[in-house]
Amino acid sequence: MTRGRFISFEGGEGAGKSTQAARLADRLRARGLQVVATREPGGSPGAEALRRLLVQGEADRWSATAETLILYAARDDHLTRTIRPALDRGAWVISDRFADSTRAYQGAAGGGSTALIAALEQAVVGADWPDLTLVFDLDPALGLERAAGRGGADARFEGKGLAFHQRLREGFRALAAAEPARCVMIDASGSPEAVEAAIWSAVQARLPVPEPAA
Ligand SMILES: Nc1ncnc2c1ncn2[C@@H]1O[C@H](COP(=O)(O)OP(=O)(O)OP(=O)(O)O)[C@@H](O)[C@H]1O
Ligand SMILES: [Mg+2]
Repeated sequence: MTRGRFISFEGGEGAGKSTQAARLADRLRARGLQVVATREPGGSPGAEALRRLLVQGEADRWSATAETLILYAARDDHLTRTIRPALDRGAWVISDRFADSTRAYQGAAGGGSTALIAALEQAVVGADWPDLTLVFDLDPALGLERAAGRGGADARFEGKGLAFHQRLREGFRALAAAEPARCVMIDASGSPEAVEAAIWSAVQARLPVPEPAA
């Protein structure tokens, strides 16, 4: 059994990650692949329970350190119960956010300890980094506008102010530049169709999709 592939979608609020993760999952399924579409924070029952602590309530509800620890408890559960079993049975896993979001939100933008984050990455993620990470880049003013148009109660991070979201964008750009073998920057300012085309060419270039079995 060939181990599946792992793709993560990363970037700021309202950049279009969830829209495009669903489109990529559909395309891969149409190619005959088994796809597990999941998200962070969340992706397993325990991690979804922790998600509610993170995405609801006041913007300053948690320190960056507390957020990092809750996120890594959730990520451990997600990896153990959802991601690793799926990859082991040959499925492709598409995760709407993963460990880079902690680097960017709690580290670069939140001022949390990068040493703590690195230690947790080693203990929890280990060797199971995504094969490909698509980093959506968009002016945060535009992203926050899109996210506000979408509505919903899970908007705690949207309330952190424009300066936070500008640091966030720079953080994502820096981490993508530091790991070019894993990360591809995606210009998220175009139409949904233009972004979808950019993603499909990145996937085909990095992880050639086998033709469906005859
Ligand atoms: N390329 C695009 N151009 C304009 N609007 C878009 C585009 N892609 C998505 N949208 C719209 O913008 C809003 C945010 O998109 P989406 O929920 O996919 O973003 P997201 O990156 O998942 O956001 P979050 O980080 O908050 O989960 C949605 O209403 C969606 O329909
Ligand atoms: Mg989303």
